[in-house]
Amino acid sequence: MPASLRTERVVTTSDARETRALGARLASVAQPGDLLCLLGDLGAGKTQLAKGFAEGLGITDIVSSPTFVLMSEYAGRLPMFHVDLYRLDDAADALAGGLLDERQLEGVALVEWAERLGEALPVARLDVVIDGTGDEPRTIILRSADPAYGRYLDAA
Ligand SMILES: Nc1ncnc2c1ncn2[C@@H]1O[C@H](COP(=O)(O)OP(=O)(O)OP(=O)(O)O)[C@@H](O)[C@H]1O
Ligand SMILES: [Mg+2]
Repeated sequence: MPASLRTERVVTTSDARETRALGARLASVAQPGDLLCLLGDLGAGKTQLAKGFAEGLGITDIVSSPTFVLMSEYAGRLPMFHVDLYRLDDAADALAGGLLDERQLEGVALVEWAERLGEALPVARLDVVIDGTGDEPRTIILRSADPAYGRYLDAA
């Protein structure tokens, strides 16, 4: 099916390495201004996917959870902004703090716990929903209402 008609794709991974490899494939089609929302329970694999995405962008720094700094920035083929909103109580705080700002238009933003932003989330985004924890296989749903993000579904 052409990417323009497809809004969802499902990928299964059986270990963290496979989830990182998916992240790297997604990174190969990243463009400036893209927003990826990483959704799933604690320990689902959001940071693993972000690590693989970074590798795919040619980032050699170690990507770890940015929980205590809210956002980490890495330099690769494109700048990567890795955001973790787990400890955020109020979306308004993040927005007031300029979390999603014009600087990100130069790079790609990966946001863990993006659901914390609620209505403030733009429609132009890719949702990556990771289901499963522990040693279980992960079911990873890629979904976007914006046809421009169809390239991620093709690359997955
Ligand atoms: N198929 C898989 N995909 C991803 N991670 C897996 C998989 N199987 C096992 N794991 C393990 O699950 C853990 C996922 O941890 P990770 O930090 O990526 O989760 P997270 O979603 O970022 O959690 P948090 O909400 O706490 O930030 C890792 O220890 C990883 O090795
Ligand atoms: Mg994490």
